[in-house]
Amino acid sequence: MKTFVLFGASGDLARQKLYPALFALFNEKEALRRIGFSRTEMTNEEFREIVGKSIKENVANASAQKIGSFLQSWEYVSGSYDAKGIAQLAECGITGEHFYYLSIPSELALIKGIISGLAKNSLINERSSIVLEKPFGFDLPSAEKINLFVQKYFSETQIYRIDHYLARDLVQDVLALRFANPIFEPIWNGKFIEKIAIDIKESESIRLRGQYYDKSGVIKDMLQNHALQLLAFSVMGEPESLSAASIHAQKIAVFKKIALWNGPLAEVVSIGQYDGYRSEPYVAPDSQTETFASIKVFINTPKWKTVPITITSGKKLDEKTTDITVYFKKNLKNIWEGKGCAVENNIIRINVQPHNDIRLKLNSEYNANDKCAYPTELRFGFRDNKILLKEPYENALRDLFFHDQSIFINSKEIILSWKFIDSVLEKIRPIRKELLKSY
Ligand code: BG6
Repeated sequence: MKTFVLFGASGDLARQKLYPALFALFNEKEALRRIGFSRTEMTNEEFREIVGKSIKENVANASAQKIGSFLQSWEYVSGSYDAKGIAQLAECGITGEHFYYLSIPSELALIKGIISGLAKNSLINERSSIVLEKPFGFDLPSAEKINLFVQKYFSETQIYRIDHYLARDLVQDVLALRFANPIFEPIWNGKFIEKIAIDIKESESIRLRGQYYDKSGVIKDMLQNHALQLLAFSVMGEPESLSAASIHAQKIAVFKKIALWNGPLAEVVSIGQYDGYRSEPYVAPDSQTETFASIKVFINTPKWKTVPITITSGKKLDEKTTDITVYFKKNLKNIWEGKGCAVENNIIRINVQPHNDIRLKLNSEYNANDKCAYPTELRFGFRDNKILLKEPYENALRDLFFHDQSIFINSKEIILSWKFIDSVLEKIRPIRKELLKSY
């Protein structure tokens, strides 16, 4: 029998994302025991009400019969996040394969409490897997501490670090686009590519997350993880296979070579803070935390060193959208530009959200009057394909149950990405005040 234990079962992430995703994967015939665990005292029935509300609010057209069976498949255990609390879990008699999902703020103290609690109650063995949510530390030393602690109890193949952006369908489609179509790989390098932009824009404010956010800022919250992962997928070499180890190895090779673009810091890094940020709850009135950042980097390899890659993210921007945009060089001979036609760059734009589409701009419309070539766009859309398009947490949980780590993050990626981000923050530190613009 397999057992899935969700720590932080009454929390926000569980209600908004995990129950709907687990419901989508639910199969009545599957022998999977589901246990919710958190500090809040509740009966099984009260807990099932929470889960039921989450399904009703987040899943369209769910059948009452399926909801009923799903709710009945859950048990609830309350306890503290330490050996004493987790003894309650041990009493449930969990045997076989375990999946422990830590949907809790990933502070070392909490992680330690839960993992050593599991160990003391003999609930960890070679058939146990553990899932950790970001942030994985708040800088290199803290990330190293978390890694070292978790690795004392679990081997790397048992640890699933989630970056929900990697679990987005359109990010996985980058792999297919690049490596299942031989027409792209020969031109996917600095000879043909002029620049790349990774943009993760958000329209929302930080809402009530000031306590966490004011200590973090967008560079740690979004660039260190989501944006760097999208970058790695965009430029990594072809993996030997689709195995997690091959994909991780290619991303690690990218993170080993990432560097800030050469030039004055103010031209390479821009940071900003939205108006009104300092009045948000739990934010310091003189806060210098950035809510917007755009950083120009490059990958120091013969293939990529000439290509500037800009990673950008911010809160309270005009829209919520995530794009990977690859601009190709014009490399055009006189036949077009020499005769005064304004031919545009070829561009591939992968809209990770909200449109879930890929657009390729081509100069393929020949105008017989002025004899110029005008741009047209080829669009590959997935938005309406409801069957194919999955929520990121559904993808992540499905792969967890299959023990496939390819859309999860390996410990070396965490360490290398923090190393780079820490070095950038260190450079910004002395001039943060001058660099920080309001918007
Ligand atoms: C989280 C960040 O990792 O991603 C949040 O902590 C951010 O600040 C969120 O809002 C964005 O995720 P999504 O799925 O809404 O694009």
